Amino acid sequence: NPDVILPPQVAWASGVFANAPLIRKTTRLADLPDFFSDNNAWRGCDPQQRLYDVETIDSPSGEGALYVGVTHLYAGKIGDEFFMTRGHFHQRREQGEVYFGLCGRGLLLLQTASGEARLERVKPGSVHIIPSFTAHRLINTGDETLSALAVWPSVAGHDYAALAGGFALRVFASDHHLQEWEARND
Ligand code: PA5
Ligand code: NI
Repeated sequence: NPDVILPPQVAWASGVFANAPLIRKTTRLADLPDFFSDNNAWRGCDPQQRLYDVETIDSPSGEGALYVGVTHLYAGKIGDEFFMTRGHFHQRREQGEVYFGLCGRGLLLLQTASGEARLERVKPGSVHIIPSFTAHRLINTGDETLSALAVWPSVAGHDYAALAGGFALRVFASDHHLQEWEARND
């Protein structure tokens, strides 16, 4: 028999990779100034606090190549606003992406180039097809870490600058006893 390769493994319940060379990136509160609506609350938090960690499998890049990574977005709020990722368009706007919810509860905020925003519920097993020309951001509305696996073209690139003015929607904890969160126009 030929040698059989043991591929990378992901634990579906936690998003923890094994047997994979990983590239890790940590984003802390200090890295996201002016992202949360309550600036005073942001300044009152520990700037070193981790917002999210992204682990990407170190794999070949180039036209047609795919990257696989997991985002672990921690639970928390700045004022009443839930922890979220920075969010981006792809530098190559025509490139899409797929997210899979692994654990925790949250929302995927999607926004078109013309500024129309919509939300998809992220939970274990949810599949999110992010179309081309669509900005995306994860929001953790729960009290556990929200982990999602992503697959995207290595050539897609990240354009953060295009969203310097922020997304059109923000998600806050709700004081209404029947719902956990509420979205407000920015
Ligand atoms: O490829 C993606 O869209 C994700 O892996 C994100 O990069 C990840 O969730 C971190 O978000 P951001 O790149 O907006 O900081
Ligand atoms: Ni992306």
